[in-house]
Amino acid sequence: MSKTKVIAIANQKGGVGKTTTAINLAACLGDLGVKVLVIDLDPQANATSGLGMPKEEGKSLYQALLNDKIKTKKLIQKTQYRNVDIITSELDLAGAEIEVARTEGCLDKFKTVLEPITEKGKYKFIFVDCPPSLGVLTMNALNGCDSMLLPIQCEYYALEGLSTISKLAEKFNNIEIEGILMTMYDQRTNLASAVEAEVRNFFGEKVYKTLIPRNVRLSEAPSHGQPIIAYDDYCLGAKAYRDFAEEFADKYGIKY
Ligand SMILES: Nc1ncnc2c1ncn2[C@@H]1O[C@H](COP(=O)(O)OP(=O)(O)OP(=O)(O)O)[C@@H](O)[C@H]1O
Ligand SMILES: [Mg+2]
Repeated sequence: MSKTKVIAIANQKGGVGKTTTAINLAACLGDLGVKVLVIDLDPQANATSGLGMPKEEGKSLYQALLNDKIKTKKLIQKTQYRNVDIITSELDLAGAEIEVARTEGCLDKFKTVLEPITEKGKYKFIFVDCPPSLGVLTMNALNGCDSMLLPIQCEYYALEGLSTISKLAEKFNNIEIEGILMTMYDQRTNLASAVEAEVRNFFGEKVYKTLIPRNVRLSEAPSHGQPIIAYDDYCLGAKAYRDFAEEFADKYGIKY
């Protein structure tokens, strides 16, 4: 078994589709037969509820980050979705970030607590849903991941945010950019296609071919605790995330 690849889904900008991408890429890859783990690293716990999981105190990765005695493996739970496991987040964790920041070697914590899992190679990929900030939790994820996947919303300020985070990636021993996914694409607007052209021009091959359209069903699914392919497999959003998962899997030569 090969080592697990850890991919941080990050963008310090809020509401760009990080969580939607984490949930749906995981579910679609799972459905293709690829074993994945989602780590919800955001105190908002949207990936947790979006995958139909309760926010239980004591079940999040923070426990392992703050307490050496807690084994990361013990925090992993199964979701109802095929091949998708999760480490949930929990409510009320505004303080956790500060606590982690106070510990010694605080930026290496994430990497350390994940090692026992990645070495075993049980999962092909671990997707880390990062909070919309560049605080200690996101920094930990960037420091401990193999690559980062950047969702961006096709709007005017998209590039500004991206260049900040890609500069940051360089600082962290040159983390590879896994890819850039354009989300909430509204094909009726000229702006969306102008932003798309600009992003493709700037990041070239790193930009996925698949575009995720703006689709109401995608915004409804989380309140039912379901990935889009469980909520409405026939909508455009489901098709887009299925296409994206296939594009993603193809890059790794995964057969499905
Ligand atoms: N393609 C889409 N079409 C329509 N709505 C979408 C789409 N993608 C995401 N949304 C909705 O937009 C909002 C923001 O998306 P999401 O939570 O995935 O972003 P985020 O980057 O994780 O946000 P945050 O920074 O707060 O963690 C959510 O209400 C989500 O349901
Ligand atoms: Mg989110």
